[in-house]
Order: sequence, then C-alpha cells, then structure tokens
Amino acid sequence: MTDQTATFTAAAKAGADIANTRKVFIKTYGCQMNVYDSVRMGDALASDGYVTTDSMEEADLVLLNTCHIREKAADKVYSALGRLRDMKKERAANGREMMIGVAGCVAQAEGEEILRRAPAVDVVIGPQTYHRLPQALKRARAGERVIETDYAVEDKFEHLPKVDKAATRLRGVTAFLTVQEGCDKFCTFCVVPYTRGSEVSRPLAQIVDEASRLVEGGVREITLLGQNVNAWHGAGPKGEAWGLGDLLYRLAEIPGLARLRYTTSHPRDMDDRLIEAHRDLRALMPYLHLPVQAGSDRILKAMNRRHTAADYLRLIERIRTARPDIALSGDFIVGFPGETDADFEDTLRLVETVGYAQAYSFKYSTRPGTPGADLGAQVEEHVKGERLERLQALLLKQQQDFAESCVGKIIDLLLEKPGRMPDQLIGRSPWLQSVNLDAKASQIGDIVSVRIIAAGPNSLFAERTER
Ligand code: 5AD
Ligand code: SF4
Repeated sequence: MTDQTATFTAAAKAGADIANTRKVFIKTYGCQMNVYDSVRMGDALASDGYVTTDSMEEADLVLLNTCHIREKAADKVYSALGRLRDMKKERAANGREMMIGVAGCVAQAEGEEILRRAPAVDVVIGPQTYHRLPQALKRARAGERVIETDYAVEDKFEHLPKVDKAATRLRGVTAFLTVQEGCDKFCTFCVVPYTRGSEVSRPLAQIVDEASRLVEGGVREITLLGQNVNAWHGAGPKGEAWGLGDLLYRLAEIPGLARLRYTTSHPRDMDDRLIEAHRDLRALMPYLHLPVQAGSDRILKAMNRRHTAADYLRLIERIRTARPDIALSGDFIVGFPGETDADFEDTLRLVETVGYAQAYSFKYSTRPGTPGADLGAQVEEHVKGERLERLQALLLKQQQDFAESCVGKIIDLLLEKPGRMPDQLIGRSPWLQSVNLDAKASQIGDIVSVRIIAAGPNSLFAERTER
C-alpha cells in the first residue's frame, strides 16, 4: 500500500477552457480502491466543470482521499490538513479561494471529528456518498461546512457519470474496476467493515458495461477490485446465482480485453469455480493476492479469520494444481495481541512453505472500535519491530528469488508507459512485475513477446524475441 498522488489530468481537460475552469487536485492515500474512487470522484467533478490538475498550487479544490487502515495512515491526513490550512490562509490573503475536502475512510470513520480538529476543511465526504460531491461543494460555497458520511440508500455507481471513453484513453492501458465493496468478515484487527460498510456486489450488467467502456477506451488489462472481491455474487443472464469465477468467464469474452486480475481475496471465498477460472482462462493472469495474515492457528482464531494454517496451505495446493505457474502474494500482520515467539515462528514457517513472489507486511496497529483494540496482551513495540524485520527479510529474499527465477523466461509483456530513458518502455509481466524494454512510445498498449535478461531490485529487464 503506497500513497499515490492522483494525476488524473484526463477527465475534462479535452476541450475545456482551462483558464476559466475550476481545478481539483486529488491526493490518494491507501489501497487500489481509493485509486479507483479518486478517478471516479474526478469524473463526478468533471461533470460539474472541474478539471483535474497535478499541481496543488493551481488547484481551487484540494481533495484528500484518505485511508484509515492503520494509525499511521490516519495521522498523515491530519498533518496534510495542517499544511493545507496554512496554504488556504495565504491564498485568502491574496484574495484567492481554496476549498479543502476530505474523502475516503478517515472521512467515514471520523466525520465530525475532522471538522472539529481541522477548521479549514469545507467538505467531508464518505466512500459511499461521493457521487454527491458536486452538491456538497455547492452547499459549502454557500457557507455550510458539509458532512456527507451516511451509507447512502441509492447506489452511487448509478449516480456517477458513466466511464468516459475519451478520458480513459488518456489514463492508460490498465484500469481498476470496483465490483464489490465492504466486508462482513469482521477480522478483529480490521476497520474495513466499519468504514466501508457491509458487503455489496455491483450487478453484472453494470460491470460488463463499465468493462466494455474501458476496453473501448483502449484499456487492455482490468483489475477487478473489492475489499473481499471473491465474495462477489450476482445474478447471471438467466437469473442464476453467479460468483466471481463466473464473472471472470463472462468478462474474458469481451473482445480486446487481454488481461484480467482481481484483488483482494479472502481464503474462505476461493470456490471451485474461481479455481477453475485460473485453470481455463488465458486472460486471467497467473498472480493471486491471497492474504493469510498469520501462520499460527491460535492467532488466526483470535483474528477471526475462520480458517487454519493447514486450510490455507491445502487451498494453495489446489490453486497451484489448477495453475502451476501462479505467483502468490499475501498480507501479514506481526504483533497481533497475544502473539508469542512460537506463534511468530509459525508465520515464518508458513511463508517458507508457500514461497511468495511478493507480499506486504505490517506491525499490528490498534484501531479504535475494532474488537482487537479491547484485547489485553498487546505486544511491545520493539518486539513488533524485530518480528517485522525478520519477516520482511524473508519475504524480500523470496521476492528476489522469484525475480531471479524469471531470468531466461520468454513471457508476454503488456507495454504500459514510458520508461526512464528515451525509447524505453515499462511493461507488466503476467506476475505483475515492472519490466524495462527498448521500445517506441507508439507501442504502448501492445502485448509483445520478450525474454527476461536480468533482474534488478525493483524491476526486470527484457529484450524482444520472435513470438
Ligand atoms: N494493523 C496492521 N495491519 C492491518 N491490516 C488491516 N488492519 C490492520 C491493522 N489494524 C493489514 C492487513 C490487510 C491489509 C490491507 O492491511 O494485512 O490485509
Ligand atoms: Fe478486513 Fe478481514 Fe474484511 Fe479483509 S476480510 S477487509 S482484513 S475484515
């Protein structure tokens, strides 16, 4: 999870009179769903006459799309708001307006508290209500301090403008598409069920329509998003019960859509149909983010994960049988309350057994309102630090081993964006690695056959081969 400054300069730039239009700068924190939401907020604002800018200086509206998953993430928001308050004051002294909005999960979780702690904020808007952003800004301009954090009864997707093909073309050849939101699993460490609400799946027709629009706008690879994406369920064309596996088979039929991915999954929702999709669909990339969080059954139980380490390992085996070249990725938490050295050793053992191509790991962070916050036996900070260091060293070694194992392989590469050098492009391997290749900008969007010739610390290097 990394901060990503949203540079969705696309939305309404085309044809807009830049000088007379309001400009919005959107800063995105946290997960990929926030990245998707930032794009869609940009779309909602475009219909209200805003263009997106990647310069905070020239923005009339600065919107922070925030993350509440760990304490550090939430703290960042308040320090950013401190800096924005000073900027707003300075602007006011020069007679120029500047509005500040807080969106995303901190907005949802802290609502009023934000208005209290940060008097410069004009609008607080939650992840389920951002289609109301234009109205909220109008109210704020009339002098109100607006807070919109109820779980809206209407479906925000129905109220957002449809994905615009021209804007999509400017955004690139890969895209996110939210298909499911919220979570009913209630892992005891996690705020998601409280910030994003309970599980909701978007209907099939809406998803197929959005995916088709993205593809018509030049997108070659779509990553389906959900906090618990494999809990997606819906009605098929004849009203039959469909799961994520069925959805993937359907989306794989869209002409021109070359690659599909999905994230994030819960081990309990990996059903047979989904595993079959990994076996059958060429478009479904051999990469799976399947968080396990910990390797000790005692801790898994305390986390309310509702599976054991052995269940997870058996599942991995089934997935690997269906798709032998699949690369696995995961999330881990160290220092959950009550975690002993022996529990932590179980996590290391599980990592050794699975062999991850990539992973994220975190120190447990107490989140107010979650059951974990009320547990005794909190693990000391320095113990968490030591465990995290050991775990990350092991995961990094696995990641490097995986990258090295790719050297010499011939793979399909989706050329995505310009590289650091002229006439160099960066592409994505099927396993989500960045790969550098000498190629012309006109080839962006092509899928080419390459041989991996070297592995660097963060990316691979490749040369062209004949297909
Ligand atoms: N502390 C630390 N890590 C957390 N995650 C979720 N909640 C917490 C928390 N309270 C991690 C989990 C999850 C990922 C998105 O963030 O590993 O899978
Ligand atoms: Fe959080 Fe668990 Fe739901 Fe994932 S499955 S969003 S970790 S409660």
